[in-house]
Amino acid sequence: MHRAHRLEKYLGTGARIYLKREDVLPTGSFKLNTAIAQAYYAAEEGRTTLVTETGAGQWGMSVALAAKMFGLRAEIFMVRCSLEQKPYRRHYMELLGAKVRPSPSTHTAIGRKILGENPDHPGSLGTAISDAIEHALGNPSAAYLAGSGMPHVYLHQTLLGLEIAQQLKTTHGEDLGVDGRGDHLIACSGGGSNLCGLIGPHLRAKADGADLRFLAAESTAAPRLTQGVYAYGRTDLGGYTPEVLGYTMGESFIPPPNHVGGLRNHHSSALVSLLRRERVLDAVAFDQRTALEAGRLLLQTEGLLLAPEAGHAVAAALDVVAKADAENAEPVIVVLASGSGFLDLQGYNEVLLDA
Ligand SMILES: Cc1ncc(COP(=O)(O)O)c(C=O)c1O
Repeated sequence: MHRAHRLEKYLGTGARIYLKREDVLPTGSFKLNTAIAQAYYAAEEGRTTLVTETGAGQWGMSVALAAKMFGLRAEIFMVRCSLEQKPYRRHYMELLGAKVRPSPSTHTAIGRKILGENPDHPGSLGTAISDAIEHALGNPSAAYLAGSGMPHVYLHQTLLGLEIAQQLKTTHGEDLGVDGRGDHLIACSGGGSNLCGLIGPHLRAKADGADLRFLAAESTAAPRLTQGVYAYGRTDLGGYTPEVLGYTMGESFIPPPNHVGGLRNHHSSALVSLLRRERVLDAVAFDQRTALEAGRLLLQTEGLLLAPEAGHAVAAALDVVAKADAENAEPVIVVLASGSGFLDLQGYNEVLLDA
Protein backbone atom coordinates (compact mmCIF):
# COMPACT_ATOMS: atom_id res chain seq x y z
CA MET A 1 0.00 0.00 0.00
CA HIS A 2 1.39 3.35 -1.03
CA ARG A 3 0.04 6.58 0.40
CA ALA A 4 -0.04 9.18 -2.37
CA HIS A 5 1.14 12.10 -0.23
CA ARG A 6 2.37 14.18 -3.17
CA LEU A 7 -0.83 13.69 -5.12
CA GLU A 8 -2.83 14.71 -2.04
CA LYS A 9 -0.66 17.80 -1.67
CA TYR A 10 -1.01 18.66 -5.35
CA LEU A 11 -4.80 18.35 -5.06
CA GLY A 12 -4.82 20.28 -1.77
CA THR A 13 -7.16 17.72 -0.27
CA GLY A 14 -7.74 16.42 3.22
CA ALA A 15 -8.66 13.03 1.77
CA ARG A 16 -6.10 10.25 2.20
CA ILE A 17 -5.35 8.37 -1.00
CA TYR A 18 -3.83 4.90 -0.87
CA LEU A 19 -2.73 2.86 -3.86
CA LYS A 20 -2.86 -0.93 -3.60
CA ARG A 21 0.13 -1.62 -5.81
CA GLU A 22 -0.21 -4.72 -7.95
CA ASP A 23 1.96 -3.16 -10.66
CA VAL A 24 5.00 -4.42 -8.76
CA LEU A 25 4.20 -8.09 -9.33
CA PRO A 26 6.77 -9.88 -11.55
CA THR A 27 4.53 -9.82 -14.63
CA GLY A 28 3.44 -6.23 -13.99
CA SER A 29 -0.14 -6.84 -12.87
CA PHE A 30 -2.55 -8.44 -10.41
CA LYS A 31 -3.37 -11.11 -13.00
CA LEU A 32 -0.57 -13.31 -11.67
CA ASN A 33 -2.59 -13.97 -8.49
CA THR A 34 -5.06 -16.21 -10.32
CA ALA A 35 -2.75 -17.41 -13.12
CA ILE A 36 -0.57 -19.27 -10.60
CA ALA A 37 -3.58 -20.85 -8.87
CA GLN A 38 -5.18 -21.97 -12.15
CA ALA A 39 -1.91 -23.30 -13.57
CA TYR A 40 -1.35 -25.26 -10.37
CA TYR A 41 -4.76 -26.96 -10.60
CA ALA A 42 -4.33 -27.65 -14.33
CA ALA A 43 -0.98 -29.35 -13.64
CA GLU A 44 -2.57 -31.36 -10.79
CA GLU A 45 -5.22 -32.57 -13.26
CA GLY A 46 -2.48 -33.76 -15.60
CA ARG A 47 -3.06 -31.15 -18.30
CA THR A 48 -0.07 -30.28 -20.44
CA THR A 49 -1.22 -27.03 -22.09
CA LEU A 50 -2.86 -23.82 -20.92
CA VAL A 51 -5.00 -21.99 -23.47
CA THR A 52 -6.36 -18.51 -22.94
CA GLU A 53 -7.21 -15.13 -24.45
CA THR A 54 -5.68 -11.79 -23.54
CA GLY A 55 -6.70 -8.19 -24.18
CA ALA A 56 -3.84 -5.80 -23.47
CA GLY A 57 -1.52 -8.74 -22.79
CA GLN A 58 -1.19 -8.48 -19.00
CA TRP A 59 -3.17 -11.67 -18.44
CA GLY A 60 -1.29 -13.48 -21.22
CA MET A 61 2.04 -12.56 -19.62
CA SER A 62 0.88 -13.96 -16.30
CA VAL A 63 -0.35 -17.21 -17.89
CA ALA A 64 2.92 -17.56 -19.80
CA LEU A 65 4.92 -17.26 -16.56
CA ALA A 66 2.58 -19.50 -14.55
CA ALA A 67 2.76 -22.17 -17.30
CA LYS A 68 6.55 -22.10 -17.11
CA MET A 69 6.44 -22.46 -13.32
CA PHE A 70 4.52 -25.74 -13.62
CA GLY A 71 6.24 -27.10 -16.77
CA LEU A 72 3.21 -26.50 -19.03
CA ARG A 73 2.82 -25.09 -22.55
CA ALA A 74 0.91 -21.84 -23.04
CA GLU A 75 -1.11 -20.91 -26.13
CA ILE A 76 -2.52 -17.39 -26.09
CA PHE A 77 -4.94 -15.55 -28.39
CA MET A 78 -4.31 -11.81 -28.12
CA VAL A 79 -6.77 -9.18 -29.36
CA ARG A 80 -5.34 -8.05 -32.70
CA CYS A 81 -5.40 -4.29 -32.20
CA SER A 82 -3.70 -4.66 -28.79
CA LEU A 83 -1.09 -7.01 -30.27
CA GLU A 84 -0.21 -4.36 -32.81
CA GLN A 85 -0.09 -1.60 -30.17
CA LYS A 86 1.80 -3.52 -27.50
CA PRO A 87 4.26 -5.87 -29.26
CA TYR A 88 6.53 -6.04 -26.21
CA ARG A 89 3.95 -7.98 -24.24
CA ARG A 90 4.03 -10.53 -27.07
CA HIS A 91 7.84 -10.66 -26.88
CA TYR A 92 7.65 -11.28 -23.12
CA MET A 93 5.20 -14.18 -23.60
CA GLU A 94 7.33 -15.65 -26.39
CA LEU A 95 10.49 -15.38 -24.29
CA LEU A 96 8.70 -17.64 -21.81
CA GLY A 97 8.01 -20.09 -24.63
CA ALA A 98 4.32 -19.24 -25.17
CA LYS A 99 2.64 -19.46 -28.58
CA VAL A 100 0.86 -16.15 -29.29
CA ARG A 101 -1.74 -15.68 -32.05
CA PRO A 102 -3.78 -12.59 -33.00
CA SER A 103 -7.57 -12.71 -32.52
CA PRO A 104 -9.70 -13.03 -34.61
CA SER A 105 -7.49 -15.97 -35.60
CA THR A 106 -7.18 -17.81 -38.91
CA HIS A 107 -6.38 -20.83 -36.72
CA THR A 108 -10.00 -21.36 -35.57
CA ALA A 109 -13.33 -21.78 -37.38
CA ILE A 110 -14.90 -18.92 -35.41
CA GLY A 111 -11.94 -16.64 -36.13
CA ARG A 112 -12.15 -17.42 -39.86
CA LYS A 113 -15.91 -16.74 -39.78
CA ILE A 114 -15.45 -13.37 -38.08
CA LEU A 115 -12.66 -12.41 -40.48
CA GLY A 116 -14.80 -13.58 -43.44
CA GLU A 117 -17.48 -11.08 -42.41
CA ASN A 118 -15.01 -8.31 -41.54
CA PRO A 119 -11.37 -8.81 -42.65
CA ASP A 120 -10.35 -5.67 -40.73
CA HIS A 121 -11.95 -6.75 -37.44
CA PRO A 122 -9.76 -5.23 -34.67
CA GLY A 123 -10.59 -8.07 -32.31
CA SER A 124 -12.10 -7.75 -28.84
CA LEU A 125 -12.21 -9.83 -25.69
CA GLY A 126 -15.36 -11.40 -27.17
CA THR A 127 -13.49 -12.71 -30.24
CA ALA A 128 -10.45 -13.81 -28.26
CA ILE A 129 -12.47 -15.81 -25.70
CA SER A 130 -14.15 -17.68 -28.58
CA ASP A 131 -10.83 -18.40 -30.30
CA ALA A 132 -9.32 -19.70 -27.07
CA ILE A 133 -12.26 -21.90 -26.03
CA GLU A 134 -12.62 -23.42 -29.52
CA HIS A 135 -8.90 -24.16 -29.62
CA ALA A 136 -8.92 -25.68 -26.11
CA LEU A 137 -11.93 -27.87 -26.95
CA GLY A 138 -9.87 -29.45 -29.74
CA ASN A 139 -7.11 -30.58 -27.36
CA PRO A 140 -8.11 -32.94 -24.50
CA SER A 141 -4.86 -32.32 -22.63
CA ALA A 142 -5.42 -28.56 -22.65
CA ALA A 143 -7.05 -26.51 -19.91
CA TYR A 144 -8.84 -23.28 -20.79
CA LEU A 145 -7.97 -20.54 -18.29
CA ALA A 146 -10.31 -17.61 -17.70
CA GLY A 147 -8.58 -14.33 -16.91
CA SER A 148 -11.66 -12.72 -15.42
CA GLY A 149 -15.44 -12.77 -15.19
CA MET A 150 -15.71 -16.15 -13.42
CA PRO A 151 -16.30 -16.86 -9.71
CA HIS A 152 -13.08 -18.85 -9.23
CA VAL A 153 -11.06 -15.95 -10.64
CA TYR A 154 -12.79 -13.52 -8.28
CA LEU A 155 -12.14 -15.87 -5.38
CA HIS A 156 -8.40 -16.01 -6.09
CA GLN A 157 -8.30 -12.23 -6.37
CA THR A 158 -9.98 -11.67 -3.00
CA LEU A 159 -6.51 -11.60 -1.55
CA LEU A 160 -6.49 -7.99 -2.81
CA GLY A 161 -9.30 -7.01 -0.47
CA LEU A 162 -7.95 -9.10 2.40
CA GLU A 163 -4.54 -7.49 2.03
CA ILE A 164 -5.79 -3.90 2.02
CA ALA A 165 -7.37 -4.21 5.45
CA GLN A 166 -4.26 -5.86 6.84
CA GLN A 167 -1.84 -3.48 5.14
CA LEU A 168 -3.76 -0.34 6.11
CA LYS A 169 -3.47 -1.47 9.70
CA THR A 170 0.05 -2.86 9.83
CA THR A 171 1.81 -0.39 7.55
CA HIS A 172 -0.12 2.73 8.31
CA GLY A 173 -0.72 2.07 11.97
CA GLU A 174 -4.28 3.27 12.28
CA ASP A 175 -7.79 1.99 11.81
CA LEU A 176 -8.41 3.84 8.59
CA GLY A 177 -11.90 4.38 7.26
CA VAL A 178 -14.77 2.05 8.13
CA ASP A 179 -13.32 -0.59 10.51
CA GLY A 180 -9.90 -0.22 8.92
CA ARG A 181 -11.22 -0.99 5.45
CA GLY A 182 -10.98 2.53 3.97
CA ASP A 183 -14.12 4.51 3.05
CA HIS A 184 -14.04 4.29 -0.75
CA LEU A 185 -12.73 1.22 -2.60
CA ILE A 186 -12.13 1.97 -6.27
CA ALA A 187 -11.08 -0.28 -9.16
CA CYS A 188 -11.35 -0.31 -12.92
CA SER A 189 -13.70 -2.90 -14.36
CA GLY A 190 -13.35 -5.01 -17.48
CA GLY A 191 -14.24 -8.59 -16.60
CA GLY A 192 -14.44 -7.40 -13.00
CA SER A 193 -11.74 -9.42 -11.28
CA ASN A 194 -9.62 -6.68 -9.71
CA LEU A 195 -12.83 -4.97 -8.64
CA CYS A 196 -14.46 -8.08 -7.14
CA GLY A 197 -11.17 -9.12 -5.57
CA LEU A 198 -10.91 -5.74 -3.89
CA ILE A 199 -14.48 -5.45 -2.62
CA GLY A 200 -15.34 -9.14 -2.15
CA PRO A 201 -14.04 -9.49 1.42
CA HIS A 202 -15.94 -6.32 2.43
CA LEU A 203 -19.35 -7.14 0.97
CA ARG A 204 -20.55 -8.72 4.20
CA ALA A 205 -19.65 -5.61 6.21
CA LYS A 206 -21.52 -3.42 3.74
CA ALA A 207 -24.55 -5.72 3.81
CA ASP A 208 -24.45 -5.40 7.61
CA GLY A 209 -24.70 -1.62 7.31
CA ALA A 210 -21.09 -0.36 7.11
CA ASP A 211 -20.91 2.91 5.18
CA LEU A 212 -18.42 1.62 2.62
CA ARG A 213 -18.49 2.93 -0.96
CA PHE A 214 -17.53 0.68 -3.87
CA LEU A 215 -16.82 2.25 -7.25
CA ALA A 216 -16.22 0.65 -10.66
CA ALA A 217 -14.44 2.69 -13.34
CA GLU A 218 -15.13 1.47 -16.86
CA SER A 219 -14.16 2.68 -20.33
CA THR A 220 -16.49 4.75 -22.49
CA ALA A 221 -15.39 2.36 -25.26
CA ALA A 222 -17.51 -0.34 -23.60
CA PRO A 223 -19.77 1.45 -21.08
CA ARG A 224 -21.88 -1.52 -20.00
CA LEU A 225 -22.43 -0.60 -16.35
CA THR A 226 -23.29 3.02 -17.11
CA GLN A 227 -25.11 2.67 -20.44
CA GLY A 228 -25.78 -1.02 -21.10
CA VAL A 229 -29.05 -2.90 -20.75
CA TYR A 230 -29.60 -5.65 -18.17
CA ALA A 231 -30.17 -8.76 -20.24
CA TYR A 232 -29.03 -12.31 -20.89
CA GLY A 233 -26.03 -12.60 -23.17
CA ARG A 234 -22.68 -14.25 -23.68
CA THR A 235 -19.24 -12.86 -22.97
CA ASP A 236 -17.83 -14.30 -26.21
CA LEU A 237 -18.91 -13.88 -29.83
CA GLY A 238 -18.80 -17.53 -30.88
CA GLY A 239 -21.46 -18.79 -28.48
CA TYR A 240 -19.14 -21.01 -26.40
CA THR A 241 -19.79 -19.31 -23.05
CA PRO A 242 -23.09 -19.77 -21.17
CA GLU A 243 -25.69 -17.02 -21.27
CA VAL A 244 -25.49 -14.89 -18.15
CA LEU A 245 -27.66 -12.07 -16.89
CA GLY A 246 -25.68 -8.87 -16.92
CA TYR A 247 -25.26 -5.35 -18.20
CA THR A 248 -24.45 -5.61 -21.88
CA MET A 249 -23.81 -3.60 -25.02
CA GLY A 250 -25.08 -6.56 -27.06
CA GLU A 251 -23.13 -9.27 -28.85
CA SER A 252 -22.85 -7.31 -32.10
CA PHE A 253 -21.13 -4.41 -30.33
CA ILE A 254 -17.48 -4.00 -31.36
CA PRO A 255 -15.67 -1.75 -28.87
CA PRO A 256 -13.71 0.86 -30.82
CA PRO A 257 -9.96 0.12 -30.83
CA ASN A 258 -8.19 2.02 -28.07
CA HIS A 259 -5.22 1.62 -25.75
CA VAL A 260 -7.32 0.15 -22.97
CA GLY A 261 -7.45 -3.47 -24.08
CA GLY A 262 -8.33 -4.81 -20.65
CA LEU A 263 -11.65 -2.95 -20.45
CA ARG A 264 -13.02 -3.70 -23.93
CA ASN A 265 -15.68 -6.25 -22.90
CA HIS A 266 -19.19 -6.03 -24.40
CA HIS A 267 -20.91 -7.93 -21.53
CA SER A 268 -20.42 -7.60 -17.77
CA SER A 269 -20.24 -10.64 -15.53
CA ALA A 270 -23.27 -11.79 -13.56
CA LEU A 271 -21.75 -10.81 -10.20
CA VAL A 272 -20.58 -7.31 -11.12
CA SER A 273 -23.91 -6.67 -12.84
CA LEU A 274 -25.93 -7.87 -9.87
CA LEU A 275 -23.95 -5.71 -7.46
CA ARG A 276 -24.58 -2.75 -9.73
CA ARG A 277 -28.25 -3.61 -10.14
CA GLU A 278 -28.68 -3.86 -6.36
CA ARG A 279 -26.86 -0.51 -5.96
CA VAL A 280 -24.10 -2.05 -3.87
CA LEU A 281 -21.70 -0.75 -6.48
CA ASP A 282 -21.52 2.63 -8.20
CA ALA A 283 -20.06 2.96 -11.68
CA VAL A 284 -18.50 5.71 -13.76
CA ALA A 285 -17.03 5.69 -17.28
CA PHE A 286 -14.03 7.59 -18.61
CA ASP A 287 -12.65 8.07 -22.09
CA GLN A 288 -9.06 7.02 -22.59
CA ARG A 289 -7.73 10.59 -22.68
CA THR A 290 -9.15 11.33 -19.22
CA ALA A 291 -7.78 8.03 -17.89
CA LEU A 292 -4.34 8.61 -19.39
CA GLU A 293 -4.28 12.18 -18.08
CA ALA A 294 -4.99 10.80 -14.61
CA GLY A 295 -2.16 8.33 -15.18
CA ARG A 296 0.17 11.15 -16.19
CA LEU A 297 -0.75 13.13 -13.07
CA LEU A 298 0.11 10.12 -10.92
CA LEU A 299 3.46 9.79 -12.68
CA GLN A 300 4.22 13.47 -12.23
CA THR A 301 3.27 13.51 -8.55
CA GLU A 302 4.16 10.03 -7.26
CA GLY A 303 6.59 8.78 -9.91
CA LEU A 304 4.37 5.76 -10.61
CA LEU A 305 3.45 4.78 -14.16
CA LEU A 306 0.28 2.68 -14.24
CA ALA A 307 -1.47 0.81 -17.05
CA PRO A 308 -4.23 2.75 -18.86
CA GLU A 309 -6.82 0.43 -17.28
CA ALA A 310 -5.66 1.48 -13.80
CA GLY A 311 -5.71 5.11 -14.99
CA HIS A 312 -9.52 4.78 -15.04
CA ALA A 313 -9.49 3.98 -11.32
CA VAL A 314 -7.21 6.95 -10.65
CA ALA A 315 -9.55 9.21 -12.67
CA ALA A 316 -12.47 7.95 -10.59
CA ALA A 317 -10.54 8.67 -7.38
CA LEU A 318 -9.88 12.25 -8.53
CA ASP A 319 -13.64 12.76 -8.90
CA VAL A 320 -14.29 11.29 -5.45
CA VAL A 321 -11.66 13.63 -3.98
CA ALA A 322 -13.26 16.66 -5.69
CA LYS A 323 -16.66 15.73 -4.29
CA ALA A 324 -15.26 15.10 -0.79
CA ASP A 325 -13.46 18.47 -0.85
CA ALA A 326 -16.69 20.20 -1.83
CA GLU A 327 -18.37 18.56 1.18
CA ASN A 328 -15.43 19.24 3.53
CA ALA A 329 -15.07 15.50 4.02
CA GLU A 330 -11.72 13.73 4.51
CA PRO A 331 -12.31 10.12 3.46
CA VAL A 332 -9.80 7.30 3.10
CA ILE A 333 -9.71 6.30 -0.56
CA VAL A 334 -8.18 3.01 -1.69
CA VAL A 335 -7.38 2.75 -5.40
CA LEU A 336 -6.40 -0.54 -6.98
CA ALA A 337 -3.24 0.06 -9.03
CA SER A 338 -3.92 -3.01 -11.15
CA GLY A 339 -0.90 -2.93 -13.42
CA SER A 340 2.24 -1.26 -14.64
CA GLY A 341 2.20 1.06 -17.65
CA PHE A 342 5.77 0.71 -18.89
CA LEU A 343 4.65 -1.36 -21.89
CA ASP A 344 1.76 1.06 -22.56
CA LEU A 345 3.93 4.09 -23.21
CA GLN A 346 3.04 4.06 -26.90
CA GLY A 347 -0.59 4.64 -25.91
CA TYR A 348 0.33 7.47 -23.52
CA ASN A 349 2.45 8.95 -26.30
CA GLU A 350 -0.17 8.67 -29.05
CA VAL A 351 -2.99 10.10 -26.98
CA LEU A 352 -1.23 12.76 -24.88
CA LEU A 353 1.90 13.76 -26.76
CA ASP A 354 1.39 13.16 -30.48
CA ALA A 355 -1.88 15.05 -30.77
C1 LIG B 1 -3.77 -3.78 -15.79
C2 LIG B 1 -5.17 -4.27 -15.91
N1 LIG B 1 -6.10 -3.77 -15.08
C3 LIG B 1 -7.38 -4.17 -15.15
C4 LIG B 1 -7.80 -5.08 -16.10
C5 LIG B 1 -9.25 -5.43 -16.15
O1 LIG B 1 -9.51 -6.73 -15.74
P1 LIG B 1 -10.58 -7.04 -14.62
O2 LIG B 1 -11.78 -6.23 -14.92
O3 LIG B 1 -10.81 -8.48 -14.72
O4 LIG B 1 -10.00 -6.66 -13.33
C6 LIG B 1 -6.88 -5.63 -16.98
C7 LIG B 1 -7.31 -6.63 -17.97
O5 LIG B 1 -6.63 -7.06 -18.83
C8 LIG B 1 -5.53 -5.20 -16.90
O6 LIG B 1 -4.61 -5.68 -17.72
